[in-house]
Amino acid sequence: MSRVLSGIQPSGQLTLGNYIGAMKNFVKLQETEECFFMVVDLHAITVPQEPAALSEQTEALAALYIAAGIDPSKASVFIQSHVRAHAELGWLFTTLANMGELERMTQFKDKAAGKESVGAGLFVYPTLMAADILIYHADLIPVGDDQKQHIELTRDLTQRFNSRFGEYFKTPEPYIHKVGARIMSLDDASKKMSKSNPNPGSFIALLDPIDVIRKKIARATTDSGMEVRFDPANKPEVSNLMSIYSHCADLTLPEIEERYQGQGYGSFKKDLAEAVISVIEPLQARYHEIRESGEIHQILKQGAEKASNIADRTLAEVKERMGFLLPRG
Ligand code: AMP
Ligand code: TRP
Repeated sequence: MSRVLSGIQPSGQLTLGNYIGAMKNFVKLQETEECFFMVVDLHAITVPQEPAALSEQTEALAALYIAAGIDPSKASVFIQSHVRAHAELGWLFTTLANMGELERMTQFKDKAAGKESVGAGLFVYPTLMAADILIYHADLIPVGDDQKQHIELTRDLTQRFNSRFGEYFKTPEPYIHKVGARIMSLDDASKKMSKSNPNPGSFIALLDPIDVIRKKIARATTDSGMEVRFDPANKPEVSNLMSIYSHCADLTLPEIEERYQGQGYGSFKKDLAEAVISVIEPLQARYHEIRESGEIHQILKQGAEKASNIADRTLAEVKERMGFLLPRG
């Protein structure tokens, strides 16, 4: 059995891109692997967060994990800041990374672009992510395509730690879909679907009202042709919608092409909306039940206890290897 670890930031609404790119794999992997899924609140504060909104969004995201199908009897779900060792190992790892490699991170470059002042936390963000992963000795990291570079950096830091302090960590692997690893905006297929896009028509939020989802899909940009064909280079918008369809209806791309041969985009988009709704509607119903019941707090407590046991031990072993004097007596 492999150990699986991943996290999502509680910053704003979760999108269909998060669901397809990340959560869908979480739900699949919990059946066969030992899984840890967290809400990465310490990462969220690398850009300013309103305190009241942060705690609400943290709880909401934890509930969404369960609503999306994470079963707390199979996987541990917890809040990153509830496991204190993350912050401490994150600090230790800032001393392993160098400025040059952190400057090359595209997420950092994107988030820092055009800003007069850039927080130092945003810069060292990937070292905390490396700590998140290595603190559990995780083997597999299910993420969307945009996180691949951070995992590569984690792999480099793993080797660096091992060569300085002796073989200790194993090198984690990213686990990424072949199709749908990057769901694009509905209004512009050159940008990834993101909750931080100021145009709400560009993304589908998992908690969007159902009629809003229908409208957003009806208005999604397509090319002026009429062929439903997967061809990301020449038909990026339609190909993106096909990836979404493929994930929501469990159809392969050739099956979708065959189904809509000679039909144009109208019926394709209509069926796509229904496929998306068939995933989101039950998820929303479960989400509201979980929020009302308050059961999430017990789930998070158990998750943090299990995670802390492993994380505390790793941190102690790392500190010993690095030469920290450990308290005695
Ligand atoms: P974030 O919302 O940045 O914390 O991302 C949480 C997870 O969702 C990460 O694994 C991302 O790679 C994934 N993700 C976010 N947006 C997309 C997208 N548009 N397509 C595919 N995966 C995504
Ligand atoms: N950086 C990830 C994102 O923005 C979130 C994250 C933090 C993460 N720590 C992690 C993902 C550890 C996987 C493993 O999406």
